[in-house]
Amino acid sequence: MSSSGSRASLSSDFERFKRALPREFPEYVREAYCINLSARFLGQSLPHPIGKGSGQLSLNPGQLETDADAGLAFAVLKTVIAQNAAGDQSMAAWAIHESKMKVERRGDSWTVTWKGRGWDRSFEDYLALVRSGRDLTRDRRLLTVPSVKYHLPHVHEPFRDAEYAFTTRALAAAWGETPLLLEKDFSPTLAGDELGGEKVQILRWLREVPARIRAHAPVKLAMKLMNAHFDDDFQREMVDAASGADALTVFNRLYDAERGVAYGGKDLSDRNLRVLSSLTPGGSPGILGIPELSGTGNVSSGRMIVEYATRGCSSVQLHTFFQLPLEEYPATDGTRTQRALHALLFDPRNGLLAVMLEREAAGLLARRGGELHFLDLLPDAHRAS
Ligand SMILES: Cc1cc2nc3c(=O)[nH]c(=O)nc-3n(C[C@H](O)[C@H](O)[C@H](O)COP(=O)(O)O)c2cc1C
Repeated sequence: MSSSGSRASLSSDFERFKRALPREFPEYVREAYCINLSARFLGQSLPHPIGKGSGQLSLNPGQLETDADAGLAFAVLKTVIAQNAAGDQSMAAWAIHESKMKVERRGDSWTVTWKGRGWDRSFEDYLALVRSGRDLTRDRRLLTVPSVKYHLPHVHEPFRDAEYAFTTRALAAAWGETPLLLEKDFSPTLAGDELGGEKVQILRWLREVPARIRAHAPVKLAMKLMNAHFDDDFQREMVDAASGADALTVFNRLYDAERGVAYGGKDLSDRNLRVLSSLTPGGSPGILGIPELSGTGNVSSGRMIVEYATRGCSSVQLHTFFQLPLEEYPATDGTRTQRALHALLFDPRNGLLAVMLEREAAGLLARRGGELHFLDLLPDAHRAS
């Protein structure tokens, strides 16, 4: 199909799918547009790049089922706080209960204001959620990945290995397959805590945590880096220090110290994209050594997915865009996940397909074997990783 033919079909598909997005949309897109949306997270092949970031939208099996039915590519489960065999949690301050979330505008973009932190039910309950996620993963309906916040010591303190051991082994047993896929959260609230106030301390965590976890089970590890309250250079130092992970989720929300809350929106994507730009080839000599990247922060259009992809991200993790008021989505029916996917992919101006076709027309993306490939948006060094 010619590029203009593709664009005409895109407008009609956008209208048609407002009522219902077909579950098998990646196959449809491949047949109808010769666009291959295959993507990657933690070395796992995905049908497309769009996943859910850890948080309030992956707290129970019902949410995961809905996401699997909608055709989401993956979901990172809510962050659990690590514990030892006796149930002690050195990061217990992060296991607080808070249910009220407020979805608010921040300039032209959206943010969710919420004072809660990690998983606040029992560890047993979390293991049950991990098993539900494992079943969906096994059935190839939805890749799910548990998320943990482990003990992070002050600079002269030892790591509490008993928490690393108990939590990692229990998750590996619940997962039941090798390797365990895991995301380690360094949350934005750390940036507002005195624990996150020292550069040497943060760099030590990033260097040492992968081995602390791997000591207890075979793990494919993503580390979700926070936006520390230091400058961009330090953000790059953090990326370098985290090279022991298999993947990096970049970068968690900003922290508003005055209001005591984490926030997102355009400020977040501006910072993330700026730092990522300086990591891509030509920017940083160390590029070949960096792990696979998964982008997070203000992904609210296909165009923004492309911004993250062209800076090396082979997948994206969204939270806020799955929480908008229903009237903000162009679709008229379907679950929020379906409506969000519909807009992200099929919007004729800013959807992922439109932007990939636009880049083809501009000579920035070429067909291979007759197809445009999402992963070809990535700079060479990341494609190979
Ligand atoms: C209400 C809320 C709760 C969140 N909880 C977690 C969490 O437990 N663990 C984590 O790693 N990230 C958490 N996040 C961060 C999101 O996964 C995501 O990375 C971040 O919000 C940026 O994406 P967004 O701009 O699409 O929201 C949370 C975000 C929100 C809004």
